[in-house]
Amino acid sequence: MEPVRIGLIGCGGIAQSAHLPAIARLPGLVRLVAAADVREEAARAAAAPFGADAYTDYRQILARPDVDMVILCTPEFAHREQTEAAAAAGKHILSEKPMAKTVAEADAMIEAARRAHIRLMVGHSRRFTGRYQEVRRAIDAGEIGEPRIVRENERRSRPPAGRESSYWTPKHWTGDPAVSVGAVLTNGIHEADLFRWFAGSEAVRVFAEHKTTRPGNLVPDFITFTVNFANGAVASGEVSNCLPPGYPSYHQLEIFGTRGAIRAKDHDQQSLVRFAEGGAGHPDSYRLLLHVQDAYVSELAQFVQSWRDDRPVPLPAEEAREALRLGLAADESARTGRPVDLTAGGGSR
Ligand SMILES: NC(=O)c1ccc[n+]([C@@H]2O[C@H](COP(=O)([O-])OP(=O)(O)OC[C@H]3O[C@@H](n4cnc5c(N)ncnc54)[C@H](O)[C@@H]3O)[C@@H](O)[C@H]2O)c1
Repeated sequence: MEPVRIGLIGCGGIAQSAHLPAIARLPGLVRLVAAADVREEAARAAAAPFGADAYTDYRQILARPDVDMVILCTPEFAHREQTEAAAAAGKHILSEKPMAKTVAEADAMIEAARRAHIRLMVGHSRRFTGRYQEVRRAIDAGEIGEPRIVRENERRSRPPAGRESSYWTPKHWTGDPAVSVGAVLTNGIHEADLFRWFAGSEAVRVFAEHKTTRPGNLVPDFITFTVNFANGAVASGEVSNCLPPGYPSYHQLEIFGTRGAIRAKDHDQQSLVRFAEGGAGHPDSYRLLLHVQDAYVSELAQFVQSWRDDRPVPLPAEEAREALRLGLAADESARTGRPVDLTAGGGSR
């Protein structure tokens, strides 16, 4: 079979650090034929190593009959428009998380995919990590009984001096309140997705508090949230995404079940630490993506294989929609200071 021909839309951080390396590692299965970014140099840098074509308007990719699928690595505020356009052009879509900015947008994306008979998957990449697949397998095998408590913490450092226009700073879209709600969707959407997946149930109530811990930040860089599930499970998580440069980034998961417990953490994965005048030199949050590199290979391979085998996508878009609803409900709770009832439509703004 010929490799599936991919058009990459958005050639920034996650495209360069995760999706392009994943494409390169699956040569028999996929091939990059085009890349687009509003920043021409970013599109060229992505396309060149693959001998692919570079564009500044993603519609030029959609107009090509030799593109079978697109990967959306653009910010979430662009996902709805690009999904609707790609679906109308008959391209299958693997989109980065969060699915969209609102639940209404997510619904429009699902409807566009349904109407066009194309496959849409949102890459909640952590589900594809070996670590969390193993956690899910252990739960499915009944090793800890029924999950009752799920807890996950996430710590990220901010960019070092000299990269002030990088992630989570006011000069970057992730730090701009006009388009971003900050930590809750940039990172906490992963926790929202994992909570649902591990609890094996729908969220019914969420209470959250957020803070802007770094002077000058315009969006919250810290959130703590507690979620009640329909099956009685409780989940709680904390995301802190703007810690001092060099602070070791990590994820820490604990699940307590009726018969056992699971613990997973990666504090010790940073095998290289340098100490110098400027402080500790850990691989920072961008480099840390390397530890989940295999997840992006697995995510892409499973997505493509599911359509070749005519099976459902491994992570239905409706799941990403529910994670988004939970994330937005957490944001609403943090803003209003009140718990949000998801059974009464909370989070669906
Ligand atoms: N799965 C994960 O764990 C993970 C990790 C990081 C980022 N992400 C997600 O990936 C998406 C992109 O994040 P990033 O870190 O790469 O951001 P980024 O700012 O580094 O890159 C985004 C790129 O999109 C381009 N772009 C913006 N609007 C565009 C448009 N209309 N058409 C074409 N290109 C456009 C920008 O020029 C930029 O190059 C976000 O939704 C983010 O949440 C997911």
